[in-house]
Amino acid sequence: MCGIVGYVGPRDCSDVLVSALTKLEYRGYDSAGIAVFENGKIEVAKSKGRLSDLVEKMKKEGKPQGHAGIGHTRWATHGEPSDVNSHPHSGRRVTIVHNGIIENYKDIKQFLIENDRTEFLSDTDTEVVAQLLDFYYDGNPIRCIRKVLHEIRGSFALGIVFADRPETVYAVRCESPLIVGQGKGEAFIASDVPAIIKYTKDYYLLEYGEIAVLKNGSVSFCDFHGRMVEKELKTADWDEDSAEKGGYPHFMIKEIHEQPTAVKTTITPRIENGLPDLSECGITPETLKSFNNIFIVACGTAMHAGMVGKYVIEKLARVSVTVDIASEFRYRDPLIGENDLVIIISQSGETADSKAVLNLVKGTKAKTLAIVNVKGSSIAREADMVIYTHAGPEIAVASTKAYMVQLAVMYLLAFEMAYAKGRIDEEKCRQLTGELVKMPEVIEKTINSISTVCQFISTQLITADSLLYIGRGLDYALSMEGSLKLKEISYIHSESYAAGELKHGTISLITDGMPVIAVATQNSLLEKTVSNIKEVKARGAMTIVICDEKAEIDRDAADYMVRIPKISQTLMPMVATVPMQLLAYYTSVNKGNDVDKPRNLAKSVTVE
Ligand code: M6R
Repeated sequence: MCGIVGYVGPRDCSDVLVSALTKLEYRGYDSAGIAVFENGKIEVAKSKGRLSDLVEKMKKEGKPQGHAGIGHTRWATHGEPSDVNSHPHSGRRVTIVHNGIIENYKDIKQFLIENDRTEFLSDTDTEVVAQLLDFYYDGNPIRCIRKVLHEIRGSFALGIVFADRPETVYAVRCESPLIVGQGKGEAFIASDVPAIIKYTKDYYLLEYGEIAVLKNGSVSFCDFHGRMVEKELKTADWDEDSAEKGGYPHFMIKEIHEQPTAVKTTITPRIENGLPDLSECGITPETLKSFNNIFIVACGTAMHAGMVGKYVIEKLARVSVTVDIASEFRYRDPLIGENDLVIIISQSGETADSKAVLNLVKGTKAKTLAIVNVKGSSIAREADMVIYTHAGPEIAVASTKAYMVQLAVMYLLAFEMAYAKGRIDEEKCRQLTGELVKMPEVIEKTINSISTVCQFISTQLITADSLLYIGRGLDYALSMEGSLKLKEISYIHSESYAAGELKHGTISLITDGMPVIAVATQNSLLEKTVSNIKEVKARGAMTIVICDEKAEIDRDAADYMVRIPKISQTLMPMVATVPMQLLAYYTSVNKGNDVDKPRNLAKSVTVE
């Protein structure tokens, strides 16, 4: 939530900040702003709305001219989106941008009003930090930042400029992610690597409590206690193209098309001689054998990948799996045993609730495994074991390729665990792994063959106020994700329901023409699902059935059908995901919505 950037170097600072913020808009997009040293003075430009609104404003009013500064794109937490609540925020001598939340801002505000008669312009917690920095500023920036770090509580990353320290940017990280890029004679700060990849691939990962000073194109670091720190320079393995749309109209559709490659890159290094091998992630058959129970904890789409994981692991490895929403798990005093495994799934690796679960479990004897996409993210670094998904940067707020590779990892894990526990023999394990290897090809074929029909069906959905996604077994797990995808970008109310549960209440919602999307890929449950489809059809629903190309379904049960390739039941979710993504995408496009930046949302949810 919120993206921050900073720059010191020879380029036009305003241009660099805007270009970097473009790559971070997925983190928040209700307002944007920059602060740049112009002739030794801090000049601020900010505006409610998208970054493009700020750019327009600067075209009319002039952009700050200089070579050092900070920038921000906002997802509002304290105070509505408005010009005045936009970052940067300033005290008399200090201007800051902030990602995260300051929990004790009210106490500090009170303290400043009473002790400094400070007047506040905005409703934000950020302005309180700017004013507190100002209050303590005695000409020594590091001492002042450290003093403030002792007083503020929460999760945050800050970019800071001091009026009497021109051409210098300070940055500090406590929880919220922050990287420091190092180019030739120039340096950057950013909430995420794609922001700076156009300029440099070399970056440092700021750790908790570390402060960076960007000056004269180079960077120095000190810790919370003011001691100098030597840091390891990392090199991003993403290229500039991965953060661009590459000819597609939206990141979401580009990312849907990237799924075959993402799956291939994720599974290939984890398969040895036709069998799953997670040893490069520190996971051996012995480790996998040792667990009694598994908890999968995550948020949103990542949690839905866990739902598929539950069905597959329980079915194949016969180990009990509980799937929980992270924000619930952390407060429900869960019973976690010594030989249990807690799997945290997260694309960003920074989701506040998922991170909190990790910290909670670390206080027990259970082992933690992170399945994460962003390298070096907090969750990845703090878990006992980590399996990186190799989806590359996912920019669209609606997750697609990250979900797909999370599924791929769930399968690898289930297969290896089932084999390690002796629940399946080598031949079966080879057969399943072989099918997984073929998935990139099958996914590609599916995207190409059903795009047109999904595009057409979406035109039938755009007028709906509400719809249902239904399914049984793995199809129910999948329909949860289909429903979330659709509602988050089309703004059509949607719920997912276990098909057999409808008659216990929800079927009363069905009215004439209400769309019901049925996922019916599980052959063993097909007849039962078809009965449920007929039940809603008989009550006036417009039914859309996602099934395999060979499924025998009465024509009169389905108003529309999306036929997908038939593969083994177990792996069907990886194919059936595609039509759900495309239906959501085209419905959003046809409604004229901002597909990649749906209202009220942000990609990386670093607040509770
Ligand atoms: O980065 P994470 O995977 O931890 O994020 C979890 C959810 O916020 C995320 O999956 C969200 O539900 C997506 N926007 C859905 O498309």
